[in-house]
Amino acid sequence: MFMKTKEKLLQLLVSCQNEWVSGEDIAQDLQISRAAVWKAVNSLRNEGYIIDAVRRKGYRLVSETDVLSELGIWQYLNPECKMLDIQVLQEVGSTNEMLREKAISGCPEGTVLVAAMQTDGKGRMGRRFYSPADTGVYMSILLRPVSIHSSKALRLTTMAAVAVCEAIESVSGKSALIKWVNDVYVDSKKVCGILTEGSVSLETGSLDYAILGVGINIYCPENGFPAEIENIAGYIFDEKERDVRNKISASFLNNFFKYYLNGDFDSYIAEYRRRSFVIGKKIEVINGEESRNAVAVDVDSSCQLIVRYEDGTSEHLSAGEISIRL
Ligand code: BTN
Repeated sequence: MFMKTKEKLLQLLVSCQNEWVSGEDIAQDLQISRAAVWKAVNSLRNEGYIIDAVRRKGYRLVSETDVLSELGIWQYLNPECKMLDIQVLQEVGSTNEMLREKAISGCPEGTVLVAAMQTDGKGRMGRRFYSPADTGVYMSILLRPVSIHSSKALRLTTMAAVAVCEAIESVSGKSALIKWVNDVYVDSKKVCGILTEGSVSLETGSLDYAILGVGINIYCPENGFPAEIENIAGYIFDEKERDVRNKISASFLNNFFKYYLNGDFDSYIAEYRRRSFVIGKKIEVINGEESRNAVAVDVDSSCQLIVRYEDGTSEHLSAGEISIRL
């Protein structure tokens, strides 16, 4: 990745943690003039970075700074993920929709869109996904799996759910669990939703491409969540913390591609089961207007939910909705 002066400066300020670094040292380090340092500082400030400047001390990145950026994500990526083509947008209608257009125009696997806000975020079942500014991460990844039958698409979604849990845990230390099929919960509240969309070849039944859309609520939105989701939706951090949106984005990508690239789609299933908090619980299986009482017995090797109804019959669910009292 080619780094501009302001990106090199950012890296330097991040590496200094909360320490001051003088303008002279920065100028020497980056081989630029003091005036160029000042220009780069202002350019970062315009992007939202909070940088203190004090005469005779120098510059310091304020610890609550949490700006979503390409470099910000890139610096935390594992080497296998450095080839991802990541674009960060401050605002977009829907990252899934924008990426679909890119997929149709031939963009390769590994094209990633990350937004700080969506005006028209899409959720499952035709619902909207609340995506306010600067408190979440809204990301879509373009995948072109080689000859994967569309019936296996569920695995991409469930793999992503495991990767989100691992990312949340490694960055926040909080434990994250999965409500089948792909909602991630922290402290009994939904903090992440996943929507996988795709195009299937009618000839072979295999996936042409898949768009994996992941929305994570990092902080509480400024005015809270809308009434219709306020009892369900939650967030991960109470206070702003340095760089957590970049860290969670990168950690999610690292974990997801760890599973996806090794080609062994089964390796994450044990982890999915372990984190699945519906197994063994009484649930309702919702099908349109109807709902049936059941017990969630297990998750099978294709990540379908095995349920047993009150009449003793069983079913393996591959899609749809369940409800559980928390
Ligand atoms: C759900 O819980 O219903 C799924 C929500 C998926 C939201 C993500 S945010 C990034 C991507 N772009 C969208 O428009 N939706 C997905």
